[in-house]
Amino acid sequence: MKKNKIYIKSYGCQMNVYDSNRILDLFKSKDYEITEDPKDASLVVLNTCHIREKAAEKVYSDIGRINKIKKNESNKNFKLVVAGCVAQAEGKEIKKRAPSVDFIVGPQSYHNLPNMLEVREEAISDEFTQNEKFKNLLYNSAGGVSEFISIQEGCDKFCSFCVVPYTRGPEFSRPVSDIIIEIKKYVNQGVKEIIFLGQNVNAYHGIGADGKTKDLAYLSNKVSEIEKLSRIRYMTSHPIDMTDSLIEAHKTNTKLMPFLHLPIQSGSDKVLKEMNRKHTVDFYKKIVDRLRDERDDIALSSDFIVGYPNETDKDFEETMKFVDELKFVIAYSFMYSKRPGTPAQKKDNVSLADKKARLSALQSLLKEQQKNYNKSFIGKNMEILFEKKGRHKDQYIGRSIYNQSVFTKSNKELINTIKNVKILNSTDFALESSI
Ligand code: SAH
Ligand code: SF4
Ligand code: F3S
Repeated sequence: MKKNKIYIKSYGCQMNVYDSNRILDLFKSKDYEITEDPKDASLVVLNTCHIREKAAEKVYSDIGRINKIKKNESNKNFKLVVAGCVAQAEGKEIKKRAPSVDFIVGPQSYHNLPNMLEVREEAISDEFTQNEKFKNLLYNSAGGVSEFISIQEGCDKFCSFCVVPYTRGPEFSRPVSDIIIEIKKYVNQGVKEIIFLGQNVNAYHGIGADGKTKDLAYLSNKVSEIEKLSRIRYMTSHPIDMTDSLIEAHKTNTKLMPFLHLPIQSGSDKVLKEMNRKHTVDFYKKIVDRLRDERDDIALSSDFIVGYPNETDKDFEETMKFVDELKFVIAYSFMYSKRPGTPAQKKDNVSLADKKARLSALQSLLKEQQKNYNKSFIGKNMEILFEKKGRHKDQYIGRSIYNQSVFTKSNKELINTIKNVKILNSTDFALESSI
């Protein structure tokens, strides 16, 4: 029996979840087993997110909760680790505010954690050592049907509201061969779908076998040669890196799913400029036109921020008009949150009431679009990759090629199979089907 237990909590994006899985890999190889209950653990890792104020504040209340466990703990070896983007952004403050935290590791140095625990009493590790990190990780499948894989990390864009360039560091792309080795390992463990992750995934520029830089279209095409792999997705893309080759791959590469998460943030050129987004609304629309020329059924998703400093009612109306015109199948929207260290932080001059009203109006419109989109599939047949069991008896949940959740009932095992189903019904967020 393994003697140590590790509990880990992810607060952030898919890459944060990927990092948590890599941390678990490291400790599983060091005689640890996973526990879902922090009270059972001898090692607790809080893998934090700094993107909005709420996410970051939650960490401190969790540290307080874990502290109580730590104090009661008869096991003197109990260690508390804060990892992730808050650790990177405010490691020293954490140590001051919460001295009970034993170790602090940033997103580019968490590979050092097992060693830190072995040799030191306490420490902070926050260097940007991407290259070394990826070389020192182990890559074991989380055991699912669909697996995330970080191919690119960091960001050089510096949108004025965003902490990511400071927490994840400069853009870094992994070599093609390392990515292929990792994917083959997962596919051999049964994985059918790969989701490439990167803060700017379509800015991918890793080294190929010939020593030359390769783009995301090349990588997708190379990965699609892996026979047992059925589906490829990628997120998150930046409009200015949406190259011709990638747009064309959506037509020619049948494993590349017709779904694109392409954040715009605002439908107002004035706001985009102040956000330092480096593209206009028209530029974005032209990309979508070109994508739809190559693959007319491509499903679009996006991110929006409302209440950005100086955003007027008129600016916001432009966002609403833009959404109305473009039609998104799903989208995420947030109230602007002032973040330390970012250029936008000095002003936060839209009132909370206006932010709330704008968010609610935008979310209603987006929800309506999602509902109508889902409704349009009733009576149609779709190929679904089934991922897990649902809450009800014989119920399975899978994904359509457009990334919709699809429920079905079957008395046969469906997990990890692709089946053609008939869509019977739709809700706001999902589809119901029969086989
Ligand atoms: N390109 C990144 C974006 C990361 S942040 C990626 O790989 O996902 C995800 C989204 O959070 C952004 O697109 C933006 O809409 C939102 N966001 C980032 N900073 C924010 C802030 N300060 N306030 C509110 N929303 C923010
Ligand atoms: Fe943040 Fe902008 Fe970089 Fe995305 S592109 S991670 S929003 S700075
Ligand atoms: Fe959060 Fe860091 Fe991801 S700030 S969104 S965990 S890159």
